[in-house]
Amino acid sequence: MPVIKPTTGNLKRCAEILKKGGIVAFPTETVYGLGACLFNIKAIKKIFALKKRPYSDPLIVHISSIDQINQIAWCDKITKKLISKLWPGPLTVILKKKDNVADEVTAGLKTVAVRFPSNPIANKLIKLCGFPVAAPSANRFSRLSPTRAEHVRKYFKNIPIIDGGKTVEGIESTVIKITKKTIYILRHGSVCEETIKKYWKGKIKQYYGKKKFSPGLIKKHYSPSKKLIIVKSQNEIKNPSSAAFITFGGEKPKNNYAFFKDLSPSSDLNKAASNLFEYLHEAEENKKVKIIYVKSVPAVGKGKAIMERLKKASA
Ligand code: TXA
Ligand code: MG
Repeated sequence: MPVIKPTTGNLKRCAEILKKGGIVAFPTETVYGLGACLFNIKAIKKIFALKKRPYSDPLIVHISSIDQINQIAWCDKITKKLISKLWPGPLTVILKKKDNVADEVTAGLKTVAVRFPSNPIANKLIKLCGFPVAAPSANRFSRLSPTRAEHVRKYFKNIPIIDGGKTVEGIESTVIKITKKTIYILRHGSVCEETIKKYWKGKIKQYYGKKKFSPGLIKKHYSPSKKLIIVKSQNEIKNPSSAAFITFGGEKPKNNYAFFKDLSPSSDLNKAASNLFEYLHEAEENKKVKIIYVKSVPAVGKGKAIMERLKKASA
């Protein structure tokens, strides 16, 4: 199946494919997703098989309005208040699931991860479906996330891929669990802590609890097919002629690298996030590159999400 344009006709055809239990890759504002009808178990199982993803790692369910939550989960007033400020957008909340959400989707947990993406193509597709769409990132398990239709095509040759160009955010949604007094961050992502703080008076904490309740905390993730090493300085790089060096903040190359990119010459962490997987894919594809070195970025704002990904990519 080809990469297709997001015309209304094509989106209608894709909604039909999803209705019949097929799989469709589509763009969101974060990364591309591999979508299936939430209520079709065969389709859900196809996603795990395609990605080679273990059933212990649950899926995010995508909806096209806040009210659609009621179809699948219980949502308290505190949560509603917060998401009404930050949705649609790259924030995923963990909610108590209703019985119609299958165990395969949630890894047997009593909770379900829900998100209302702001990307208009994703929104239109989910609306045309009329049901929530379960979608993990459209990459093979533990590999680099896709920020372009071409990246999805590297992993999956036989599914329709809706081309929405390069994704705006470039990294996945932030995953949180909201309790009365505290928000727990299960995965740093496109909505940074500082943004959540604008709408939340309580505490915000990193989740360090049981792995079972945050399956996404596995060590190796987001990895290129080549070795990745995080460096503090260019001086740590060996054999530059076969190395990729991805830096940040306008640093000039001291060597003749096989591949050189700057995530953001102006030290803009939002831009750096949006270029992160883009450049890692390019370095992965570059035949001269044997090892990828990435300069660590300041762990503030979106820098936290970038560093979380780099650490897992280098694990
Ligand atoms: O930006 C995104 O979130 C993208 C786009 C496609 O929406 N999706 C995405 O899905 O990143 P995926 O499957 O790659 O990551 C889902 C994360 C995993 O870390 C998973 O463990 C966590 O969400 N998760 C899902 N359900 C959960 C639950 N019930 N409790 C805790 N964590 C959960
Ligand atoms: Mg993923």
